[in-house]
Amino acid sequence: KNISIIGVPCDYGQQRRGVDMGPSAIRYAGLQERLKTLGYDVADEGNIQVVDFDEVEQQDHRLLNLEEVVRVSTTLAEKVDTVVKNNRTPLVLGGDHSIAIGTLAGLSVKYKNLGVIWFDAHADLNTPETTPSGNIHGMPLATSIGLGHERLTSILHSEAKIKAENIIIIGGRSIDDGERVLIKERGIKVYTMHEIDRLGMTYVMEETLQYFKTQQVDGLHLSLDLDALDPLYTPGVGTPVAGGISYRESHLAMEMIQESRLLTSAEFVEVNPILDERNKTADVAVALIGSLFGETLV
Ligand code: ARG
Ligand code: MN
Ligand code: MN
Ligand code: MN
Repeated sequence: KNISIIGVPCDYGQQRRGVDMGPSAIRYAGLQERLKTLGYDVADEGNIQVVDFDEVEQQDHRLLNLEEVVRVSTTLAEKVDTVVKNNRTPLVLGGDHSIAIGTLAGLSVKYKNLGVIWFDAHADLNTPETTPSGNIHGMPLATSIGLGHERLTSILHSEAKIKAENIIIIGGRSIDDGERVLIKERGIKVYTMHEIDRLGMTYVMEETLQYFKTQQVDGLHLSLDLDALDPLYTPGVGTPVAGGISYRESHLAMEMIQESRLLTSAEFVEVNPILDERNKTADVAVALIGSLFGETLV
């Protein structure tokens, strides 16, 4: 029962400043104490070094800050791999969602059949060809199945980091045309808000966890973008989308993941304190982490 916290103060995957303060905000919301109370041996590995440039020279408008994202992802991937090799559970704090490129690359060294739960309003399945923004935080899932720029897909090694059939996206409600094509082509599983409304979160999570058991995954990673929740609960995110997952639904999902005993790593991303209200979004992140790692109501 041990956890290693890794902060990644990266804001290069999108264009709003402030998300690089996410790791501090989440720590300040009482993360360590919360996990220690649950009986974990918690090690805070500190932050991955992210060099803060005031201005980055842009070469490709479809891949903004490419070199910086590559640098951060590579350092993070190596760190995650080391934590896993030390038999500790990585808990990665973002930073924008581009950091998942590094997290998944690091996890792929040990886990060859990793399941990934992607809690997000977005699918993050864009490539340089389909991106509407040039923001790499919209590309980590595509990158991890081996699509996109070679500099990103070859971090740590050149194979795909995860299998398309091992991805389940939950909370989707802002999906781009190119992403839709990829979802169909690759048969990527998505529970949009429509399915959550219709089936209920209990059913969605039961089916999700059962699927990963059937797939006999050798690990399960949760990548939780705080914009999966309704902005009512998590206003401090760069790309809020109305009509999201409720506070209780998100906790229920975390509790069910905990009950499944499948989880081997997690990351919480896109907390932007500049856009937040009195650290509300970081507070929610810490509460969700509590549920994910075993807090109960009684
Ligand atoms: N789909 C949009 C894009 O590619 C938004 C992506 C938002 N991603 C995120 N991790 N918040 O630009
Ligand atoms: Mn910065
Ligand atoms: Mn998102
Ligand atoms: Mn995302």
